[in-house]
Amino acid sequence: MWTCLVVLFMAGFTQAKSPPDATLDTFLNDTNQQLAVIYDQAVLAQLLNELRGPNDLVALLEIEVTDDKLIKYVKSLTTRKAKFKRLGLGDSRQRRLLAKFPLLGYEALSPRDLKRVYALASNMSDNYHNVKLCAYKQPDNCTLRLIPQVQSIVQGSRDLDEIEYYWFEWRRRTGLATRSQFVAFMDLYKKTAQLNGYDRAEDYWFRSLELNGQETMSLLDKIMHGLRPLFLQFHAHVRGSLRKMHGERLVPRNRPYPQHLAEVFIGNAFRRVQAEWYVDLPSPEAGLVNITQELHRRGLSTTQRVFWNVAEYFRALGLPQLESSLWTYAQKVSSDDDDRCWHKAWRYYALPRTNFTYCPLNDEERFFNMFEAQADLHYYRAASIQPTLLQEEPFPNFSDAIGKCFSMAASSPRFLRKLGLLKEGKWKELPARLNRLYVQGLRVVFLLPVFYVLDRFRIEVLSGHIKADDNEAYWRFTEHYTGAAAPTKRTNEQFDVPAKLLMEVDDQYASHILSIVLQFQLLEHFCTKTGQFEKGNPKKPLDLCDLSDQRGLGEILQKAMSLGSSVYYRDVLQELVNQPEISIDGLLTYFQPLQDWLQHQNQQNKLDVGWS
Ligand SMILES: *[C@@H]1O[C@H](CO)[C@@H](O)[C@H](O)[C@H]1NC(C)=O
Ligand SMILES: *[C@@H]1O[C@H](CO)[C@@H](O)[C@H](O)[C@H]1NC(C)=O
Ligand SMILES: *[C@@H]1O[C@H](CO)[C@@H](O)[C@H](O)[C@H]1NC(C)=O
Ligand SMILES: *[C@@H]1O[C@H](CO)[C@@H](O)[C@H](O)[C@H]1NC(C)=O
Ligand SMILES: *[C@@H]1O[C@H](CO)[C@@H](O)[C@H](O)[C@H]1NC(C)=O
Ligand SMILES: *[C@@H]1O[C@H](CO)[C@@H](O)[C@H](O)[C@H]1NC(C)=O
Repeated sequence: MWTCLVVLFMAGFTQAKSPPDATLDTFLNDTNQQLAVIYDQAVLAQLLNELRGPNDLVALLEIEVTDDKLIKYVKSLTTRKAKFKRLGLGDSRQRRLLAKFPLLGYEALSPRDLKRVYALASNMSDNYHNVKLCAYKQPDNCTLRLIPQVQSIVQGSRDLDEIEYYWFEWRRRTGLATRSQFVAFMDLYKKTAQLNGYDRAEDYWFRSLELNGQETMSLLDKIMHGLRPLFLQFHAHVRGSLRKMHGERLVPRNRPYPQHLAEVFIGNAFRRVQAEWYVDLPSPEAGLVNITQELHRRGLSTTQRVFWNVAEYFRALGLPQLESSLWTYAQKVSSDDDDRCWHKAWRYYALPRTNFTYCPLNDEERFFNMFEAQADLHYYRAASIQPTLLQEEPFPNFSDAIGKCFSMAASSPRFLRKLGLLKEGKWKELPARLNRLYVQGLRVVFLLPVFYVLDRFRIEVLSGHIKADDNEAYWRFTEHYTGAAAPTKRTNEQFDVPAKLLMEVDDQYASHILSIVLQFQLLEHFCTKTGQFEKGNPKKPLDLCDLSDQRGLGEILQKAMSLGSSVYYRDVLQELVNQPEISIDGLLTYFQPLQDWLQHQNQQNKLDVGWS
C-alpha cells in the first residue's frame, strides 16, 4: 500500500498543481474496470490457445471475438479521451492515466486502408511462415520450410554451395516476393501514425518506449558505440574461425565476413551445440557446463520440483512466498515442439488470480527458464496494485530483463556448485569461464547489431531519408553495423529487408535491445550492491556473481516492479539501479575477461580487426 502513496506523492510533487477532476475520475475508474474485464477475456482466450495448441478453432475464435470487443471499446473511448485531453483537466496522475489509454492503431485508418493493411501484414507474415523451398539439387522435392527443415540442413551442412543455395532461395522467395507489399505497408504505417496523433512516424514506431524517434535513436547509437570495441574484437575472431573453416578466398582479410557462413556459426550458439563444434573455443579441454544429467541426479527431475526450488530462490531474496495452489492448478502445455516450449505466468486484471503453464523439463534451458517465468509472476503481482491502465511494464520486455538477470546469476558456476549441480572446481577457473563467456557472447554481442539494423532501416524509411525498397541502403547498414556482407553483391534489383527470420513487419526491436542491455546493468548493480562483484578484484568477477539468499534485493525489486507504468521507465530505473538511463557498462564489465582474451588472441594470431 505504501508504494501507492509514494507514487502519488512523487507525481503530485513533480507536476503542476491542477486539482483532480471529479468527472474525469469517474471516467477513468470506469475505463480501468471495463478494460480489465476485456483484457481478462483476452488472456483466457490466449491461455486456451496455449493449452490446446495453435490449431484449436474454439481458442482462435475466442481470440478474435475478444480482439473485436477491445477495438469496439477503445473506439468508444476515443472521443471522450480527446475531450478531456483538450480541456487539460485533471491532476498529474489523471493525466498519466489518460496518456496510457490504448491507441486505436491501424483501426484509425479508413475501412479501405484498414482492410488493405491487414491483408498486407498477414500476407507477408504468411509468406515467411509458409514458404516452402525446394531441396538443394532436388527440384521435385519442394516441401521444406525454413524452420525447422532448412535451418537444420544449413546448420549441419559443410557444403558451401548448399548453404549458399538456401540463403539465396529464401531471400528470393520471401524478400522479392513481398517487395511491393512492404512498400505499400510502410506508406500505410505512416498514415496510421498521423491518424494516431503522431506527426512523425518514427515517433509512433517507438511510442511504447515513451521516447521520440530521435531520442531513441541517440540512445541506441550510444549503446552501439559502446559495444563497438568488443564487437570488433569478437568479429575479428569469428572471421578468423570462418577463414580456418572455409579458406581465405571465401573469407578474405579486411572485409566483412559472408553473412551466410557467419549465420551458421553464430546460430549454433543458440542451438547449444557441443563444445567440440567450435573451432576456436578459448579452452577446448575445459569444455562447457552441461547440468542436464546432474539435475536428474539431484532430484530436480520434474518441473514441479524445479518450480518449488526456484520459488524458494525468490523467497530467499525477500519476495513474497508463492501459494501452493499456484502449482496445484498449473497446467502442462501441449506443444508439438518441446524445444520451443516455455514456462509462463499468466496475469489477469480483474480476476483475482494468476495462472501458470509449464513444459516438460527436458534440459537445462527449461531449468533456467523457470527463473524468468517466476520473475514475471512476481512482476505481475507487484504491478497489480496499479489501476489497469498503469499495470504494464515501463516498456515492452522490461520484465524479461529482470528475469534474465536472475537466470544469468543462477547459471553462474558459484550458484550451481551451491546447488550441488557442479562438482569440479575447474568451472570457477578462467579457462572454463572464458568458454562460458564465449558462448554467451555469441548469443548477445552479435545479436544487438542485427536488431539495431532492423529498426534503423525502418526509421530511415519512416522519416523519409530512404525509400522503403532501397536494398543497397539496407546492405550499407548491415555491413557497417554487423560486419557481414551478402555472398555476392546485392543491388536494388533484389530485396532482402523482410527476409529476417520470423519477424513481423511492424515489430519494434529497440525494446529488445534495451532489455538485453538492461539485464547486464541489473546484474552489475545487484552484484556490486551485495558485494558479490568487486571491480578489479580477480576473485570476484561479475560472471561468477551468485545472488542467491541476498535478502535485501526483494524490497528493491518489489518497489520498482509495483510502479508498473505509473511513471516513465527512467524513474523506474532510478529506483532499481540508482541510474536514470540504460547503460552498456554492465554488459562490457561482464564480458571484459573475454574481451581481453579476444584482443590478445587477435594480436597473437595477427588477425585483422575491422574492415574497409
Ligand atoms: C476512483 O477510484 C479511486 C481509487 O480506487 C477512488 O479513490 C475514487 O474514489 C474513485 N472515484 C470515483 C468517482 O468513483
Ligand atoms: C497476397 O498474396 C497473394 C499471393 O502471393 C497476392 O496475389 C495478393 O495480391 C497479395 N495481397 C496483397 C494485399 O498484396
Ligand atoms: C527432400 O529433401 C530433404 C532434405 O534434403 C530430405 O530430408 C527429404 O527426405 C527429401 N524428401 C524426398 C521425398 O525426397
Ligand atoms: C547435455 O547432456 C545431455 C544428457 O547427458 C545430452 O543429451 C545433451 O546433448 C548435452 N548437451 C550439450 C549441449 O552438450
Ligand atoms: C487458473 O487458476 C485458477 C485458480 O487459481 C484455477 O481454478 C484454474 O484451473 C487455473 N486454470 C488453468 C488453465 O491453469
Ligand atoms: C521480448 O518479448 C517478446 C514477446 O514476449 C519475446 O518474444 C522476446 O523474446 C523478448 N525479447 C527479449 C530480448 O527478451
